[in-house]
Amino acid sequence: LRHFPFFEHLGEDELTEIAPLFITRKYEKGANVFFEEEEGDELYIIKSGVVKIYRDDNAREIILAIFREGDFFGEMAVLQNEQVRSASARTLEQSTLYVLKRFDFISLLNRSPDIFIKILETALDRLRRANELITDLTILDARTRIVRMILRLTENHGLQNKEGLLIDLKLTHQQMADMTGTVRETVTKILLDLQNQQLIRIDKKKIIICNINGLRHLIEP
Ligand code: CMP
Repeated sequence: LRHFPFFEHLGEDELTEIAPLFITRKYEKGANVFFEEEEGDELYIIKSGVVKIYRDDNAREIILAIFREGDFFGEMAVLQNEQVRSASARTLEQSTLYVLKRFDFISLLNRSPDIFIKILETALDRLRRANELITDLTILDARTRIVRMILRLTENHGLQNKEGLLIDLKLTHQQMADMTGTVRETVTKILLDLQNQQLIRIDKKKIIICNINGLRHLIEP
């Protein structure tokens, strides 16, 4: 647990004390952890794998966030006892999650103000992102939205390698459309344009950013 941002403030003793509270649960790729509107009394921390947070109405879907190792989710329904899940969660890869029950989570927060602050900070970061997403969806054109999505993905999923900045996620064009409120054909076309301009490359379904300043310049000329 020590390697998780969530617990970085805890000492060895505390870690030893809380470790038994976590259950480990494995999920196949494409499995739902929970659905929007369900009641929930568990918080999840990703040990390995990738999880998308989304809302849908059967016809269309909007992806709100994609989480990976070290990220947590499900804190909203857990902290707001009388509220249901605000979105659904589904694995994009085979994943292993640490599960913490409400009672244990609350007693952990009571014991450790550092964890409490960490969670609040993360929740506020997510609110900022959500505000950006609302603005993007309302006022920006499709190309700008897609470029901004690519730049934003580098923050949580970026990996520097020899060829550039790799986004360490395999996303389909449909998933990228669901993140930007566009359609698959638009994503395909714009990704092709960006490749032709040598701003990005696609390698084994992952995006490599070859020219990050070029990308930034596209949206803030
Ligand atoms: P909860 O409402 O319990 O279940 C869905 C979870 O998705 C929620 O807790 C948060 O952990 C997470 N979540 C909901 N909305 C967003 C968002 N806009 N950005 C990032 N994460 C979110």
